This record gives sequence, C-alpha cells and structure tokens, in this order.
Amino acid sequence: MQRILSFLRYLIEAKGVHGAHSAFIFKLFQEVFNDEKLYYAFSEIEKQRDNLKQMHSSIGVIDFGANGDGSTMHTKIVSKIASKSLKHPRYARMMFRLINHMNYVDVLELGTSLGITSLYLSSATRGSVITVDASDAISNIASSLNKDKRRIDYRVNTFDNELKKLEKQTFDFIFIDGDHKGESLLRYYEQLRPQLKENGCIVIDDINWSADMNRAWKQLCDSADVDLSLDLFELGILFSRPGMVKQHHVIRY
Ligand SMILES: C[S@@+](CC[C@H](N)C(=O)[O-])C[C@H]1O[C@@H](n2cnc3c(N)ncnc32)[C@H](O)[C@@H]1O
Repeated sequence: MQRILSFLRYLIEAKGVHGAHSAFIFKLFQEVFNDEKLYYAFSEIEKQRDNLKQMHSSIGVIDFGANGDGSTMHTKIVSKIASKSLKHPRYARMMFRLINHMNYVDVLELGTSLGITSLYLSSATRGSVITVDASDAISNIASSLNKDKRRIDYRVNTFDNELKKLEKQTFDFIFIDGDHKGESLLRYYEQLRPQLKENGCIVIDDINWSADMNRAWKQLCDSADVDLSLDLFELGILFSRPGMVKQHHVIRY
C-alpha cells in the first residue's frame, strides 16, 4: 500500500527535462537518463544474466538483508535470485552511463548478489570496482562470471565489517543495494559520506521499498552535505556538488 501511494505521489511530482533548470541536470537528462545507446558490453553482460536464469541449482544463503537475521541459512535457487534480486538492465545501464558521463573512477557496490550490476559498473569505469556481499555462495558465482578479468574486487563480508576495512579509501561512485532498512542506510551513509570524492555520488536502491526506507531517504536529501538529490522512484541519487545551490528533483524515468 505504502509503495502504491509513493508511486502515485511520484507520478504527480515527477518532471521531464523541461522541468529541470540547471545545465548540469539538463546534461544528465541528455547523456544519462534519456540516452538509449547500446554499448558492446551490454549484450555480453545480458548473456550472463540469461545463463544465470537457466541455473536451477540451489545454494545455501544466509540472509543479512531487511528480511534476515544474519544467522539462519536458507536454500535459494540461483535462477530465482537472477530473476528477482538483480537490478533491471534499464537501471544498470543508467548507472553505466552515469559513471561514463561523470568520468568516475573508483566505484563501490554494497550488495554484489550474482554480480550482474558489478559487471556493468566495471565496464563503465577505467578504474576499479569493490563489491561487497556477506554470502560466499552468491559471491563465488558472481566472481566466476568475471571471465574477462575486469577490475572487480569481490569482498565476502558484512557491510559493517567491510566498511571498517575500507575507511581509508575514497570513492567517486557508491551504489548501496542491500540491507534495505532505514537505520542501516543512515549508518552506511554516515560512514561513507566522508569517503565520497568531490563531485561524486551515492546511488541508493529501493528508496520506496518501505515507509522506513523512504523516511531515511528523505532525511538524507535534507542533510547539509547533500547538494543535489534526484528521486527516480526505484532509486535515488545523492550528489556532492560543491558550489551548487541545494536542489531536489523528482525525475520522470
Ligand atoms: C538486491 S541484492 C544486490 C543486487 C546487485 N546489486 C545487482 O543489482 O545485481 C542484495 C545483496 O546484498 C547482500 N546483503 C544484504 N545485507 C547485507 C549486509 N548487511 N552485509 C553484506 N551483504 C548484505 C545480500 O546477500 C544480497 O546478495
């Protein structure tokens, strides 16, 4: 119900390119949100997704996310994870274009799952991707897909523990896609915000997944260190743009 209400509000508030005033946002529409160009890497990555959807074997997964307690092992079918838990190509490609457009180099993903989005992110950057997931069974499958030996560092750990290890590193682009609880999101943000480079951004998945996630998202949009926030309903993007007058836009995507 909450998601339906949020979606109706989004439809009313969302604007297209003509509603956006800044040149920076106008360029984002042109090069990132509205661009439909296909890159060579896309079809190769989608073949891997199709292969995963045909893998009907089961694996043992401890659920650390919003629905799990981090201690109970569940059996999951790989093909089902591939169909339900991964970012849709439309959004993975949008993030690919965003990294490309902004020339982002150092990328962090919280929530590897089967690693399809990690492949998109690494194809977009000339730097490297660190991707974190607590499930070793899932992460092993993800790393086995990296046949071209792209620069992806697969880390098996809880987000909290791995973030402690990463505290000296800085990132241009951070994708938070796991553990969809408001208090967890606020904690990851607080830890990572000082590690975000100037002009970098943090993409947060499932900002409308629950009332709790939506509250946390709104709190982040209001925080003083966010210069520009974009609400695409499925996900939200927080930019560090020193010098920009603080702005929030609901974007029709
Ligand atoms: C939605 S999936 C990620 C999908 C992936 N980003 C994609 O688009 O292909 C979320 C993943 O986060 C992992 N996860 C959730 N909470 C976690 C936590 N607290 N620490 C580590 N991993 C976690 C889960 O094991 C799951 O594989």
